[in-house]
Amino acid sequence: MNVAVLISGRGSNLEAILEKEKQKELGNAVVSLVVSNIPDAKGLEIAKRYGKKTIVLPPHRNQNRETYDKQLAETLEKNNIDLVVLAGFMRILSPFFVNKFSNKIINIHPSLLPSFPGINAQKQALDYGAKITGCTVHFVDEKVDHGPIILQEVVLVDDSDTEETLAKKILEKEHILLPKAIRLFSEGKLIVEGRKVRIVN
Ligand code: GRF
Repeated sequence: MNVAVLISGRGSNLEAILEKEKQKELGNAVVSLVVSNIPDAKGLEIAKRYGKKTIVLPPHRNQNRETYDKQLAETLEKNNIDLVVLAGFMRILSPFFVNKFSNKIINIHPSLLPSFPGINAQKQALDYGAKITGCTVHFVDEKVDHGPIILQEVVLVDDSDTEETLAKKILEKEHILLPKAIRLFSEGKLIVEGRKVRIVN
């Protein structure tokens, strides 16, 4: 099962996935492609270190979302991709793309959705005074940070937490949760029924 990981930056989630693959803990999934929309994304170096094929796809000036997404979809299809993993990919995907890869795109978000969608989720949780937050892996639908939830993990917010310490605690859980979701998907263990995702044995 061919997986493409889409990134825009640091790539720590990508590294966690590649490490699990190396340890043979990614089920039937093989990361066969890493795509970045940002040419100097740090994650590209990580992908190369693990011997992975990388493609940089920066949007052209004035290119509309759908034209970009058509190019992205073609790239993924050419590489026979079965699962698209968004690991810090900082672009909103068009309905065209989401429908083309329906229930085949997963995203990791650093909050317990539906709380704190969008950017700066950790700051949102702190500013709100939440006592718990965490991370969510979900299928991607047409709305941002909205699709059916696959897995969630809780993180406690301490009075002393800053945006940085909270982000670090959440990231540790992200690095476990995202590879786990990929493994479950690759083993055919995720059954989507409307908004609900059933995990079968
Ligand atoms: C993570 O916090 C993820 O939840 C969010 O973007 C960040 C990506 O970090 N979607 P990294 O590039 O994987 O280190």
